Amino acid sequence: MANIERDEVSGTDTTGHEWDGLKELNTPLPRWWLWTFYATIIYAVGAWVVYPSWPTLTTYWKGTSGYSSRVDLTNDLAAQTQERSVWTKKFAALPITEIAQDRNLQEVAMAGGKVIFADNCAPCHGSSGTGAPGYPVLADDDWLWGGSLEEIETTVRYGIRGAHDDTRVSEMPAFGDDYLTAAQIKSVAGHVLSLSGQGASSAEGAEVFENECAACHGEKGEGGRDFGAPKLNDGLWLYSSAGDDLIAQISKPKHGVMPTWEGRLDDVSIKQVSIYVHALGGGE
Ligand code: HEC
Ligand code: HEC
Repeated sequence: MANIERDEVSGTDTTGHEWDGLKELNTPLPRWWLWTFYATIIYAVGAWVVYPSWPTLTTYWKGTSGYSSRVDLTNDLAAQTQERSVWTKKFAALPITEIAQDRNLQEVAMAGGKVIFADNCAPCHGSSGTGAPGYPVLADDDWLWGGSLEEIETTVRYGIRGAHDDTRVSEMPAFGDDYLTAAQIKSVAGHVLSLSGQGASSAEGAEVFENECAACHGEKGEGGRDFGAPKLNDGLWLYSSAGDDLIAQISKPKHGVMPTWEGRLDDVSIKQVSIYVHALGGGE
């Protein structure tokens, strides 16, 4: 090591190596850096031993701690199912009116119902139940079949003119089939409009309405929920009152179909979405 000398510019010793007049300064790594480096090596070896690490020929070293992210996940899932089953059991066991009275269950129902509604109901009823011609608004208090929790649940579960044996059914007769004359249909259409303050009625229109329509739609057009017969006196239309639409409906009525959800949604989901619909604004 005879060649070690002090470099005049930096004041640092050289290593003694020299290449064509170029000399190497001796600047070792700082102590703290070196010890940190050794510590990470020791930690790594420890981690190989404790956690799953090296592959072997047929399997892998599973570590002495027994840790596995799959076990973690399984435990998480089990905990969630446990948590969920607490309230799904309550949903299954309680009638819908009692579920809605329990604040916690009500919150769960609203959160779940919102998603179920967006996935299954919004295509027909509009997002947040705003409705469309032929598809009733669910956010107002104008109900065809009823807006209590139980009525809504029944409608959702079995449908309207749906596939289930217990589905809600009713049929407005086709008054155009030689039953009423064209003139009678025209005058009863006029009477229907007059019920919501549009135009004047006629003696003939009032009489036909009284005889043929009031049984379902009510004397003053206040609607008949036993038949799912819409109110005719509120100026809100399931279909339309424009042009000849009323005459068409009276002559050859349209009949809406609401699918049966039993079998497509489970019991818990039906209760959740019914509570959600009830809370949209028109619940009774
Ligand atoms: C394929 C279209 C369609 C889908 C999807 C649909 N509905 Fe309906 N729904 C209707 C129609 C049409 C009516 C009106 C039937 C009638 O004319 O009596 C109706 C009526 C209703 C009524 C009765 C309203 C009243 O005034 O009494 C409720 C409540 C209802 N739907 C809730 C739902 C819920 C909740 C879902 C989702 C789980 C849903 N609907 C999905 C078409 C649909
Ligand atoms: C057997 C019961 C029944 C009788 C009788 C009946 N209707 Fe209806 N009417 C209904 C039902 C049910 C609907 C709703 C159909 C649907 O939901 O798709 C309806 C719908 C209507 C509508 C559409 C309302 C809207 O909001 O768009 C009009 C208008 C109407 N009826 C007028 C009459 C007139 C006028 C008569 C008598 C000439 C009459 N109805 C007799 C059951 C009846």
